[in-house]
Amino acid sequence: MKARAGILHGVGQEWQVEEIDVDPPKVGEVLVHWKYAGMCHSDEHFVTGDMVPPPEMMAMMGGGSFFPVLGGHEGAGIVAEVGPGVTSLKPGDHVSASFVPSCGRCRYCSTGKQNLCDNGAGTLTKGMITDGTSRHSVGGEAITVMAGVGTFSEMACVSEMSLIKVDDDLPLNAVALVSCGVATGWGSACSRANVEPGDTVVVVGIGGIGINAVQGARMAGAKRVIAVDPVEFKREKAMELGATHVFASMDEAIPQVMDMTWGQMADKVIMTPGVMYGELMAGANALCGKGGTIVVTAVAPITQDTASINLFQLAMYNKEIKGTIFGSLNPRADIPKLLSMYREGQLKLDELITREYPLDDINVGYQHMRDGVNIRGLIKF
Ligand SMILES: NC(=O)c1ccc[n+]([C@@H]2O[C@H](COP(=O)([O-])OP(=O)(O)OC[C@H]3O[C@@H](n4cnc5c(N)ncnc54)[C@H](O)[C@@H]3O)[C@@H](O)[C@H]2O)c1
Ligand SMILES: [Zn+2]
Ligand SMILES: [Zn+2]
Repeated sequence: MKARAGILHGVGQEWQVEEIDVDPPKVGEVLVHWKYAGMCHSDEHFVTGDMVPPPEMMAMMGGGSFFPVLGGHEGAGIVAEVGPGVTSLKPGDHVSASFVPSCGRCRYCSTGKQNLCDNGAGTLTKGMITDGTSRHSVGGEAITVMAGVGTFSEMACVSEMSLIKVDDDLPLNAVALVSCGVATGWGSACSRANVEPGDTVVVVGIGGIGINAVQGARMAGAKRVIAVDPVEFKREKAMELGATHVFASMDEAIPQVMDMTWGQMADKVIMTPGVMYGELMAGANALCGKGGTIVVTAVAPITQDTASINLFQLAMYNKEIKGTIFGSLNPRADIPKLLSMYREGQLKLDELITREYPLDDINVGYQHMRDGVNIRGLIKF
């Protein structure tokens, strides 16, 4: 089958809208018509090269070239066809993508840590996580499929492990947002940072992820939700969605947080800037008080292995630093849960969609993300 899709052929290039070939689903696979794809910053890391595995890493993953890549890991769509053995979905079902698969059987899935499912290891390769062979090609060349879901295509062949059934009456643009940005941001605050009533929380970087850390921290009962972003529009949005204070930089926030907390500083610091650089940890550490927690959600360049963190203070102030993927949530339980909170009017989703673009305008949408004019942009198929 043919589908139009956003394909990247190399670092520093633009996304190309091209016709790709999608093979029918095999055992455990599902053909999905994507209806919306979120333009998350994570796909941008392929354009900049930040998330492109270096040759030695590619060799460990079985060799070959990383490009071409079909982008998109945030999305929602409708099941077109199911392969043999698929029992949880049927044609016509509405689904959310899940950029982390969940098999339900591995050590992590079976202990309530679906975000760490072992099948995640195969989601940045040309092969399906089901059997390792490819279903997507362009000009006869196999394509790496972002997160095994490839939501920048009108149609993709996806493992049942990477799809979550959602209620048919929910708007699919809202579902798309929840599939990555909302879950990751909200979970960074509510699950990984474990924000408690009365906490002072700082969120650094207010994009599609950070704005949901703001929403989550407020819902969890934080006394102060302090949003940091250099872009004024982002700070305004943060105030609309639950922030109590906003600052343009960590340097500006540090003395102000010291003042408002009487020197105690923040209980939780959540790092969601567009790119996580090691030097940003100095500011995170300065904002974090005794016994506090720093959650690192943003993606760093893949080879970044140094960070500015005062190890004396880390120990003597009893702090902790935590990474998170998918906000440390369980996609099968938490994507429907977040959508039910949207249905009840508690979680704001419509307010997060700044613009929708046709696939042909994918590069315009990503330029808008770089320019900071969107909380989230969506591709509408
Ligand atoms: N851990 C995960 O599972 C996971 C999942 C999805 C996305 N991510 C990552 O989260 C990060 C954020 O993604 P997004 O889609 O929200 O990005 P985005 O580009 O929409 O938003 C990033 C925001 O950070 C701001 N910013 C940049 N540098 C800053 C700084 N030094 N201080 C304060 N603000 C700063 C920008 O102005 C922008 O508003 C990305 O690195 C993305 O890859 C991680
Ligand atoms: Zn994402
Ligand atoms: Zn698993």
